[in-house]
Formats: sequence, C-alpha cells, structure tokens
Amino acid sequence: MNNKERVLSGIQASGRLHLGNLVGALENWVSLQERYECFYFVADWHALATGYADPSEIKENTKDILINFIAAGLDPDRSTIFIQSMVPQHAELSLLLSMITPIGWLERVPSFKEKQEQLKDRDLYTHGFMGYPVLQTADIIIYRARFVPVGVDQIPHLEVSREIARRFNHLYKEKIFPEPEGLLTEFPKVPGLDGRKMSKSYDNAIYLSDTREVVEQKIRTMMTDPARRRRTDRGDPELSPVYHLHKIFSSRDEVDEVAQGCRTAGIGCIDCKKILIRNLFEYMEPLWKRRDELVSNPEMVLEIARKGSQKAGKEAEETMKLVREAMGMHRCY
Ligand code: TRP
Repeated sequence: MNNKERVLSGIQASGRLHLGNLVGALENWVSLQERYECFYFVADWHALATGYADPSEIKENTKDILINFIAAGLDPDRSTIFIQSMVPQHAELSLLLSMITPIGWLERVPSFKEKQEQLKDRDLYTHGFMGYPVLQTADIIIYRARFVPVGVDQIPHLEVSREIARRFNHLYKEKIFPEPEGLLTEFPKVPGLDGRKMSKSYDNAIYLSDTREVVEQKIRTMMTDPARRRRTDRGDPELSPVYHLHKIFSSRDEVDEVAQGCRTAGIGCIDCKKILIRNLFEYMEPLWKRRDELVSNPEMVLEIARKGSQKAGKEAEETMKLVREAMGMHRCY
C-alpha cells in the first residue's frame, strides 16, 4: 500500500528553464520525492493562454523542460512525470469546473490584470486566459493532490483552486476533492544578469540549456555595483547581483572574502566573477552531464513522458468517473 500524501506541480511551457527555475523550484521538487508521491508535469496547454497567436515554440519548450526535469533529478521511477495535453481528462475536468466557477473569482486573481498590463501587445481578453486558474485547478484536483509546491506569485491561483474544490464538494454533496494547500518553501531569490529577478521576459537569464561558454560570457559581462567604475573604487557588494549569486553558489568563506574585497577595492570585479564562474560550473556540472546524455537521447525522454502520462491518465480517469457521476454526466446511453 502506498499511503504517502500527494504532491503535484507543473511548469508552463512558455519558455526554456533557467537557473532561477532550478534553484527556486526543481531542487525543491527533487527533495519532495523522499516524502511524497509526486506528480510533475509540463503545462503545455497553459502556454497557449498567453501564447496562442504564436505556438511555434511550445513543442521545443516542452521537450527542454522534460529534459531539465530529469537532469535536475526528478526520478521517473519514483515520480509521475508527464505532459498535460497527453492527459485529456484535464481538459474535460476544466470544462466541467468552468460551469461552477463564478467570473468574479477569476477577475479578482491579481495576475489576470497584471499580465494584461505586462503583455500589452497581446489580446489577453480571452476566455482561455481568464480561465487559466480553472485549468490549473483541474490539473491539481484531478489527482486529488494535497500539496502544491509553488512560489508566492501562485498563491492567489491556489486560493481559487481551494474555492472551486470546496464549491464542487458543496454543490454535489460529495467529498471528492481535498482542498489543495500551497507548499511555500524559502529559497534564495536568484537575481538575473541585470540585478532584477531572473526571468525570461527580462532577457536576463542564464538558461539551463546555455553552453559553458555562453554561461561564462554572460557572467563576465553581467552587472556589478554600477558606482564602482574603476578597479581602485570601493564597491558595495549588496548592490552587485554577482555578489548575490555568490551567496547561492559559493562557500561562506568565499562570500565573506569577495564582500570584504569589494568594500576595500581589494579584489576586482573580473576576479570576483572568476570565482563565481568556477563555483557555478562545479555546481552545474552534474546537471550539464545528464543534459548532454538526454539531449542525445530524445527517444528516451519521450518514452518517460509517455509512460508517465499513461500512469497519470489512469489516476485522472478514476477521478473523472466520480466527477461525471456527481455531475450527471456518466454515460448511460
Ligand atoms: N501556473 C504554473 C506556471 O506558471 C503552471 C501550472 C499549471 C501549475 N498548472 C499547475 C503549477 C498546477 C502548479 C499546479 O508555470
């Protein structure tokens, strides 16, 4: 008997994964495998919510994300790794949940207006975009998952999921769905090359698919304390994103050493970056090795996704039987 509680999380296939995704999400997902029965998936349908006008990269992104899942240490023998669109029950449940979801709940999700503001060049006044949290709810509750490891930005989405689950249970007098809970874990914020949060939309990311040469080049040219213009100027490490990366990837002693060196002009930015490059490379090397193997073995990656999706589909179908019956939609014709 497997009585471990269920964890589920996903990443939308709207870009390639970067260092921020690795440190902020994937590493946590890897460690959750010890204690929970985990479901991890690529949300390719969700990528259409904002990217419907140009879906040309969704396939490549999906494969890249799968490769990174496995390279980062998600273990297909322990976790169910799958692709959202390969389990069509998610779409069916999303449709059924949309019937019971008041528009007001969706309008109130902060990311609804925020994303529309951010992506002014796209028409995001669509049914699918507004229903993003409904599909996300289906993703979660179709496995009756208890915990959803996410960043703080996803908490409002999860609140909607809890409300929808509660409303379903209330309307149909069945306790089919547990209310999913967010699993917020403290992790260091990864700054991008320009000091803002690392994000594909800021064009400041170090991608997991970047070659060693590209990573080295990106760090060599990344921003430091802007006030420290000459080698002999003293700097403030807190104002340098390089220093914040040191805090994640370097030893305590090295962090103290470069901070001190920066403040006293004892170390130059180039030397400081060289130490970071060395440590980051050491940290990334195992993942890069596994990536190389997986990239040259695409069939193996797809096979993992197929098997995982099949396994997920069985679980999803079990839940859907109960849902169809509760909503009067089971087949009797
Ligand atoms: N919204 C998540 C993202 O931004 C992706 C996602 C889709 C998700 N469905 C989910 C996350 C269910 C957790 C649970 O990438």
